[in-house]
Amino acid sequence: MPTTNEIRSAFLDYFASNGHQIVPSSSLVPSNDPTLLFTNAGMVQFKNVFTGQETRPYSRATTAQKVVRAGGKHNDLDNVGYTARHHTFFEMMGNFSFGDYFKPQAIELAWNLITRDFALPKDKLLVTVYSEDEEAAALWRKIAGLPDDRIIRIPTSDNFWRMGDIGPCGPCSEIFYDHGPDVFGGPPGSPDEDGDRFVEIWNLVFMQFFEDPPGTRTPLPRPSIDTGMGLERFAAIMQGKRDNYDTDTFRSLILASADVTSQDPDGQFKASHRIVADHLRSTAFLMADGVLPSKDGRGYVLRRIMRRAMRHLHMMGTQEPVFYKLLPALIQEMGHAYPELGQAEPLIRETMRGEEERFKAMLDRGLALLEEETEKLAQGGALPGDVAFKLYDTFGFPLDLTQDALRSSGHLVDVPGFEAAMKIQRERARAAWTGSGDTAVETVWFEARDKFGATEFLGYGKETAQAEVQFIVAEGTSVESAGIGTEVAILLNQTPFYGESGGQVGDTGQIIAPGLRVAISDTQKKLGDLLVHYGTVTEGVIKIGAAVTAEVDHARRSSIRAHHSATHLLHEALRRRLGDHVTQKGSLNTPDRLRFDVSQPRPITREELAEIEAEVNARIRENTPVTTRITTPEEASKEGAMALFGEKYGDEVRVVSMGGKEADGTKPAWSVELCGGTHVTRTGDIGLFRISSESGVSAGVRRIEAVAGSAAETAAVLNEERLNQIAAMLKVSAVEAPERLATLLEERKTMERRISDLQRKLAAGGADATKAETVAGISFAGRNVGDTPAKELKGLAETIGKQIGVGVVALISTADGKGSVVVYVNPELPEALNAVELVKAASAALGGKGGGGRRDMAQAGGPDGNAATAALDAVRAGIVAAVGK
Ligand code: ALA
Repeated sequence: MPTTNEIRSAFLDYFASNGHQIVPSSSLVPSNDPTLLFTNAGMVQFKNVFTGQETRPYSRATTAQKVVRAGGKHNDLDNVGYTARHHTFFEMMGNFSFGDYFKPQAIELAWNLITRDFALPKDKLLVTVYSEDEEAAALWRKIAGLPDDRIIRIPTSDNFWRMGDIGPCGPCSEIFYDHGPDVFGGPPGSPDEDGDRFVEIWNLVFMQFFEDPPGTRTPLPRPSIDTGMGLERFAAIMQGKRDNYDTDTFRSLILASADVTSQDPDGQFKASHRIVADHLRSTAFLMADGVLPSKDGRGYVLRRIMRRAMRHLHMMGTQEPVFYKLLPALIQEMGHAYPELGQAEPLIRETMRGEEERFKAMLDRGLALLEEETEKLAQGGALPGDVAFKLYDTFGFPLDLTQDALRSSGHLVDVPGFEAAMKIQRERARAAWTGSGDTAVETVWFEARDKFGATEFLGYGKETAQAEVQFIVAEGTSVESAGIGTEVAILLNQTPFYGESGGQVGDTGQIIAPGLRVAISDTQKKLGDLLVHYGTVTEGVIKIGAAVTAEVDHARRSSIRAHHSATHLLHEALRRRLGDHVTQKGSLNTPDRLRFDVSQPRPITREELAEIEAEVNARIRENTPVTTRITTPEEASKEGAMALFGEKYGDEVRVVSMGGKEADGTKPAWSVELCGGTHVTRTGDIGLFRISSESGVSAGVRRIEAVAGSAAETAAVLNEERLNQIAAMLKVSAVEAPERLATLLEERKTMERRISDLQRKLAAGGADATKAETVAGISFAGRNVGDTPAKELKGLAETIGKQIGVGVVALISTADGKGSVVVYVNPELPEALNAVELVKAASAALGGKGGGGRRDMAQAGGPDGNAATAALDAVRAGIVAAVGK
């Protein structure tokens, strides 16, 4: 009996040996289709190949494609666990021809595979064809030799396949397996077709048309083939089972569920085990493709799936989170075929555990409320909408979880009542918002918010995405379309563009489609979760409903990412170097620079800045992965995540960690911060970090400006250029420039000093020359020079002495309140005139004693600076006395 893994390989090998390229499964999040929530068929990744927009190096392909059918057009969520063949996640095996072979060969390839290679008995098989497709019916007769009563014509859309409302489509032909008369059920098209006797195993689609808008079909350039075989149901047949959940893969998962819950796999909780097994697969595969649980969009579908599984695990009596404990069993079964599961295992495991911990806290109380309310209901009565809403709003019960919980007691939910309660709450929130005085939020955005809900942000993982235009605003009003030159604000159903928030500037880029281009100059958030693209139509006309490609300016975004991640490292380095008082006061991350304000009482010194910069660069060079996960604010703070004080966080936060693990195990990473921004993948992507300035912004707040990545490189190159210019001007090498400059500056200081000396001397000299008087026939210049320093008196006396010719000079400085005196006697004067004697007389007048020097130049001092005039008089008297002798 072949295992599921063997069947998958055999299928792919068969088509490979028939000239088909084995192409890996594409992501569950379609990258080329805005109208799809999840990849819902094997042909999704080839959609543009069918239409001729895209070419591949092969014209035949085969795949095992991951598919999720929950939410959106194909939604099987409600049936899972209660039927033999519904799944939220399954694998679709397929073969594809892109304008290569068509109906005859498609039928032949399929028929040969199942009847020869897989050896299913011919008499157990029957087929359907679209009632208008006589060609297909004839081919089945001819190739398979099937009698007419086993070629059933179906006139309904069941045999006309479309991926969605828009896209390639065509008539199809399905192969059925008959489990035999002892199983209840009728052939396709009969009233009992939903029974389990006749099971569809393979759908061959003859792709002939392209539908857009809905209802209008144009022929495809080259008729093509798209087929889909559900691997799980085919494996069931090959393994002799009537139920997909009895196949090897599912059995292993169910046994794992039985193990962690200690509940009989086939007992009263049989359906619960199946739900858990199915939901485990969609949960893990969605997360491996980058979807994380959230409040909106894909993330909310994932959350619904997870919470449903968790309720069933809870019902089976588990106290602690256990859902994540099933992950190893899944990886064991499917990790070989899908290595992405193993690669993302830590992320999947931790996200599952966190989600279950949080939900469990509310689950008991929610279930108690539900039980209480159900008891009040009459048999078959509907649960009031406001109760379902309370369960949703307060206890986190998605509507389908409540519906699922009521299933066993046979009650339904008043869905219109639930929706009305939801609407009332939205209106209340809107009134509160307007009431907060935020008049800047144009009322058109409320209209858009009500109509479309939040914009799904894809920009953590992608910078280009397909999207649908939902809403266009030009000159403040909502419009259907806008032509060239118009300034517009555009809402898309999903976008990779980041709306300005948390200090990170909004993205720029373009929104394009054939014949259309809108240059986007900014992206802003409105009403919390609408992402509005602002720009100008530069080509064509943009219309509501148009399918477009939204493309972020990649180089700019990667610069912004480098700066934002550098800010996290800077923040942590500042705290480690300066202390925990450092908290963020403001932040700006642009493509060219970052600005970060922190509480810090004193200026940060140059040495500190140098150490901080070096620390950040060391973390960059470590080149460790940057990880993000979603958790509650409480858990995040337990792990030491830095949050902004006073900032209001919802019940969910995104935690960004970077830098290696702390050696002491106190923190999961070097820097852990709550942040909604976009970051580098590894710290090494930041490249380089340079602080450009540090300054004060207000009391206790310092501002650091810095550059990272290519902006840091540009700054470094510019600085070097400047240094080279300086060196060239100094006529030395750059290495010698600092010393040369220091010498020049020193020389300059000396020269300045000399100049001021000379000026002073000249000034003093010029004035005193005319002031010379005659005492006892001798030319005498006596002067109080005020606070001229005493050490300059001698030089000054000499200068004046030269100017007055043969004479006597006496100068008194009164700096510091004391008196200092210098007397100069021209040597040509008679011997009796002695500078030492004269200075002694002056010193006595200043209250001092003695003095010293030579006959022509002597110096003395005394404590009484106020007696300068008396001291000069004493010199005059001394001259008179000496000359009189
Ligand atoms: N695309 C076809 C299907 O999903 C094969 O059934």
